[in-house]
Amino acid sequence: MNKIKKIAVVGGGTMGNGIVHLFAQNSYRVTLIETKQEFADRAITTIEKNLDRMLSKEKITQSDKKETLANIHISLDLKSSVKDMDLVVEAVPENFDLKKSIFSVAGQYAPDHTIFASNTSSISITKLAAQTDRPEKFIGMHFFNPVPVMKLVEVINGLKTAAEVTKTIMALSEKLGKTPVSANDSPGFVSNRVLMPMINEAIFTVFEGVATAEAVDEVMKLGMAHPMGPLRLADFIGLDVCLDILNVLHDGFKDPKYRPCPLLVKMVDAGKLGDKTGEGFFVHNK
Ligand code: CAA
Repeated sequence: MNKIKKIAVVGGGTMGNGIVHLFAQNSYRVTLIETKQEFADRAITTIEKNLDRMLSKEKITQSDKKETLANIHISLDLKSSVKDMDLVVEAVPENFDLKKSIFSVAGQYAPDHTIFASNTSSISITKLAAQTDRPEKFIGMHFFNPVPVMKLVEVINGLKTAAEVTKTIMALSEKLGKTPVSANDSPGFVSNRVLMPMINEAIFTVFEGVATAEAVDEVMKLGMAHPMGPLRLADFIGLDVCLDILNVLHDGFKDPKYRPCPLLVKMVDAGKLGDKTGEGFFVHNK
């Protein structure tokens, strides 16, 4: 089985910084590839803040924090930094052309054995893989926010993903203390095919005046033991991301049951995107 030692993560946003944090805390040397120093600095600041939170709860020690940070390297050059990697995990925004261009450059500079993984929550793994020089070494490695906390890694097999690659990524996820669950490529995979219709239905419930956002969330938290209500969770994920995923489900299955609620569309149009803009269904401290 492929031994994964050297890892690069492309993109240090919400998911990317969590993925870098996770690898580094589990003793992997990880290179964060960003386009600008300020983006990389922001990712490191977030990782430090999350390590401090773990430190204050005595989940880690001061020396764990130091070692974790020492395992992280920054690069602003995709070409030179994928040259000796065993695994490249892409965690950039959900834009097909952006992901395609990253994998096309990485394919030219990475060695043949390098596995490419995408953290996409909605784009087809088979379609992304087909844009690369190595569809059999291409896989979905779908993490959940907050990455250091959430136990699941949804491992998505594209049509051509080799069984050996799936095995390697499942084993790696376990080494990270996660529980990997494997699924075949399909719109929304398993997670978002099940989650997004629930969020969309919660939004319809508010849209139709059945109950307030607070009431809907209270019902799901107290009645269904969800840690966050669906509307609080939608804000946490980002309403633009929720809308993108619902559109992928709607387009992919051509089934009207996935049509996004007009209220969600309107809120995204208004720039109310949830936590990241300070307001969504609820008001948040930025
Ligand atoms: N980094 C490290 N640790 C973190 C953290 C972070 N970013 N955020 C929270 N934590 C830790 C806290 O330190 C705390 O640890 P302990 O239990 O060990 O003390 C624990 O997580 C719980 O945090 P809090 O006590 O601060 O707050 P909470 O109890 O309200 O939990 C939560 C926060 C973990 C986010 C919880 O509300 C939750 O599980 N929410 C649901 C999250 C979810 O569903 N995520 C998936 C979204 S979907 C997705 O990501 C993918 C997609 O494709 C859309």
